[in-house]
Amino acid sequence: MGSRILVFLVVALIQVCTTTPAVTNNDDFNALKALKDVWDNVPPTWVGADPCGSRWDGIVCTNSRVTSITLASMGLKGTLSGDISLLSELQILDLSYNTELTGSLPLAIGDLKKLTNLILVRCRFSGPIPDAIGSLSQLTDLSLNSNRFSGSIPPSLGNLDKLFWLDLADNMLTGTIPVSTGTTPGLDLLVHTKHFHLGFNQLTGQIPPKLFSSGMNLIHVLLESNKLTGSIPSTLGLVKSLEVVRLDNNSLTGPVPSNINNLTSVSEMFLSNNGLTGPLPNLTGMDHLTYLDMSNNTFGATDFPPWFSTLQSLTTLVMEKTQLQGQIPSDFFSLSNLQTLDARNNKFNGTLDIRTSSINQLSLIDLRENQISAFTERPGIEKVGVILVDNPVCQETGVTESYCSVSQNESSYSTPLNNCVASSCFANQISSPNCKCAFPYTGLLQFRAPSFSNLGNDTYYTVLEQSLMNSFKFHQLPVDSVNLSHPRKDSSTYLVMNLQVFPFGQDRFNWTGISRIGFALSNQIFKPPSQFGPFVFHGDTYLNFAGKEVTGSNKSSNTGVIIGAVAGGSVLLLLLLGAGLYAHRQKKRAEKATEQNNPFAQWESNKSIGGVPQLKGARNFSFEELRKYSNNFSETNDIGSGGYGNVYRGVLPTGELIAIKRAQQGSMQGGLEFKTEIELLSRVHHKNVVSLIGFCFDRGEQMLVYEFVPNGSLMESLSGKTGIRLDWVRRLKVALGAARGLAYLHELANPPIIHRDIKSSNILLDERLNAKVADFGLSKPMGDSETGHLTHVTTQVKGTMGYMDPEYYMTQQLTEKSDVYSFGVVMLELLTGKRPIEKGKYVVREVKTALDRAKYLYNLGELLDSSIGLDTTLKGLDKFVDVALKCVEENGSDRPTMGEVVKEIENILHLAGLNPNADSASTSASYDDASKGNAKHPYIFSKDAFDYSGDFPASKVEPL
Ligand SMILES: *[C@@H]1O[C@H](CO)[C@@H](O)[C@H](O)[C@H]1NC(C)=O
Ligand SMILES: *[C@@H]1O[C@H](CO)[C@@H](O)[C@H](O)[C@H]1NC(C)=O
Ligand SMILES: *[C@@H]1O[C@H](CO)[C@@H](O)[C@H](O)[C@H]1NC(C)=O
Ligand SMILES: *[C@@H]1O[C@H](CO)[C@@H](O)[C@H](O)[C@H]1NC(C)=O
Repeated sequence: MGSRILVFLVVALIQVCTTTPAVTNNDDFNALKALKDVWDNVPPTWVGADPCGSRWDGIVCTNSRVTSITLASMGLKGTLSGDISLLSELQILDLSYNTELTGSLPLAIGDLKKLTNLILVRCRFSGPIPDAIGSLSQLTDLSLNSNRFSGSIPPSLGNLDKLFWLDLADNMLTGTIPVSTGTTPGLDLLVHTKHFHLGFNQLTGQIPPKLFSSGMNLIHVLLESNKLTGSIPSTLGLVKSLEVVRLDNNSLTGPVPSNINNLTSVSEMFLSNNGLTGPLPNLTGMDHLTYLDMSNNTFGATDFPPWFSTLQSLTTLVMEKTQLQGQIPSDFFSLSNLQTLDARNNKFNGTLDIRTSSINQLSLIDLRENQISAFTERPGIEKVGVILVDNPVCQETGVTESYCSVSQNESSYSTPLNNCVASSCFANQISSPNCKCAFPYTGLLQFRAPSFSNLGNDTYYTVLEQSLMNSFKFHQLPVDSVNLSHPRKDSSTYLVMNLQVFPFGQDRFNWTGISRIGFALSNQIFKPPSQFGPFVFHGDTYLNFAGKEVTGSNKSSNTGVIIGAVAGGSVLLLLLLGAGLYAHRQKKRAEKATEQNNPFAQWESNKSIGGVPQLKGARNFSFEELRKYSNNFSETNDIGSGGYGNVYRGVLPTGELIAIKRAQQGSMQGGLEFKTEIELLSRVHHKNVVSLIGFCFDRGEQMLVYEFVPNGSLMESLSGKTGIRLDWVRRLKVALGAARGLAYLHELANPPIIHRDIKSSNILLDERLNAKVADFGLSKPMGDSETGHLTHVTTQVKGTMGYMDPEYYMTQQLTEKSDVYSFGVVMLELLTGKRPIEKGKYVVREVKTALDRAKYLYNLGELLDSSIGLDTTLKGLDKFVDVALKCVEENGSDRPTMGEVVKEIENILHLAGLNPNADSASTSASYDDASKGNAKHPYIFSKDAFDYSGDFPASKVEPL
């Protein structure tokens, strides 16, 4: 009978569907199923038996194995069961911002031997941190902050020798900070770790002197708001890499060790609210200090230390209730970066004289409760809040001066609209800065040690917004815009503000979007500009997922259709079959379409070169497109040539200028090398490195498309070809920029990269003369991308004569020190303006021969390039020569690292009276005007293209 056959067909159909082989490894499926069974609110795609094949949201697989689970802000509810340990290939686990995940962490978490990132920020886990976490030997990032963990810090964490980031802050941890003994490990062994964030716990006992040693690489030590006692160990002064030190709100006693002064990279230091005693430490050496708070200690009666006035980077000095006395020296107010002096409740007397103050930055002088009897203002200072309440100057009867009252000026900043009119939105949607109604992803951004205190300067937020957007775009996250609002200091002097992230292209995010954005913020993939310091994001649960209502009841509705078909006979069944065929055809069609759109189809079909390139943000251009953008590769657009082929200028339809490097026949790389090169280039992202926009691998051509860098190469400028005069200050800036780019490649790119061909023709100058390192034709990714350690490799020697490291040449062992050598040669080139080998003379030998450190300008006056401006004082020239010569030491091991070179050049700029951290992107209005009007060439006539306003340190680079 007809209907029986139909029933048979239905059964067969169901069998065909369910016996399609699942991609996912069985253990992995069982583990996820177990998690799903105990969790509420998992994404609706979590159905079926094949998480890898059917792409469960938040799950990433490599082949059949689950390697990453990222489920931030999903509203997950439940506990983390030991089943997770079945996921033996898991590398990343991020469950942040699920405040209804409770219970303790399973001991079996220690079985996840491949785990690199364990990120559980702001859940509600409790109980002890399992000792077994110390056996996760691949772990680089451990963030358990803002939970309710109790008990002590497991000493076993000291075994995590790849750990980069340790954040246990804001829990209920007790006991002492563990250090190693002969038999047990401790945190002192974490010599590669950069971050100890242990604040807001109940840790007790002394800060163990053994915790710190000179071999460490810590940059942030945050121990604030614990119950630590005893004195600050002098070993802290051995950790030269430190940038932020927070020991405030503890019960520390005794004097501040004098060698703290050796920490020359520290920019924010908080020692407030302890029982520290005198004398006040002399911190003259800490010349990068921006924010110093030593309030509420008992250093003993002292005058305002004169060395405060020498801290050129200082933005903020907070010295409440520290028994300071006498007159505040007026030269203190001439510090050009000073924003805030908060020294209330001291014994200052005499006159407050701020006539020398710089008005661009200064925003608050709070000296309430002192003995000050007179105040000398400077004109134009209205913007500065001066508070002298409870001083004799305000105690005469009848004074009505504004400084005799306390006025609250909170910042009410909120991201401005982007040239549009705010929409009025329905149903709890919010109008974005682009005036689109949508459901934003929200949360609180918390900065634990910003370098500034003037919250009324909106530029800070604009810069932060831009850096957020750049990071989201760079990582191809579906973000339209961000809104920052209500910046404020919370009770722990953290800077907090509200963040709204708006979806791109639709009115709400899907699960994957939230998982990826949450991870970018929880796992610190977003790096804020350095003035913001260490941050934490507290994401809210996202409640408005796209497609929630539709997909929610998938399972039951399918079953319903099938039951209906069986019961109702042929009509429904035929419909079902028809729908199946249709769906199949649609799928084929879709596959075909993706193939056409897929930029890497050619890689797909050519398996010999190993599959699709792993690209981050680089775009695939067709030959036709590039031909059009470069006006048929016209001669007028030809801007350079070399052995490899030509470089053409081009214009994208958006107006953006590009440089197209087109390999000529004969110099093409193999497909594999070309792929490797673009993969490498697309991962590199730093303002001092020329960035790759895209590539073309079409019609037998190989082309790389770069951002266009308008002012050509350093070599061209040194030779006078571009008409840009490089005076001493500009040369220092160029050296610093190039050094930073190179340091990024060595130390922060992932994998680290050795350039192998550093020379003045590979350093390009942009419209503001920022140096950008270019041309990675010979570059080598290095070492182990997980640890980020550079190792050496043996390679065929390549490079350019005159710049090549002799040690590399002889041993063929390439290390990052070979780049340091070449960079040293470039520094000498900057000094002399000469090519490294000119008329048979080698610049390294020339300089070494002439050098006499006892004489004026080291006796190098004759060798110096005349356009350097010999009539001006060449401040720091001797130091510059010292650094250059260190770089060209014969033994690689005697040469500094690029990171050290950066520090040295920054110091030299300091000596020259410039702020090396000023971002040249914030150049003065006068420059911008000149460049717009084109009335005159900005470099030849403007006094200084580097008119540093000193506002913003360069953004921290963004490792991937
Ligand atoms: C660090 O400081 C101490 C004491 O202030 C000093 O004696 C020592 O030389 C310094 N060490 C270095 C390496 O600068
Ligand atoms: C602080 O130290 C510097 C050098 O380290 C020294 O020149 C200066 O006199 C010292 N200042 C005081 C007040 O001790
Ligand atoms: C100093 O102590 C007072 C009183 O406990 C407190 O109100 C103030 O916030 C503290 N100052 C700082 C900068 O921590
Ligand atoms: C300010 O205080 C210092 C120290 O307490 C004292 O020696 C000095 O005479 C006072 N100066 C004035 C103008 O009151």
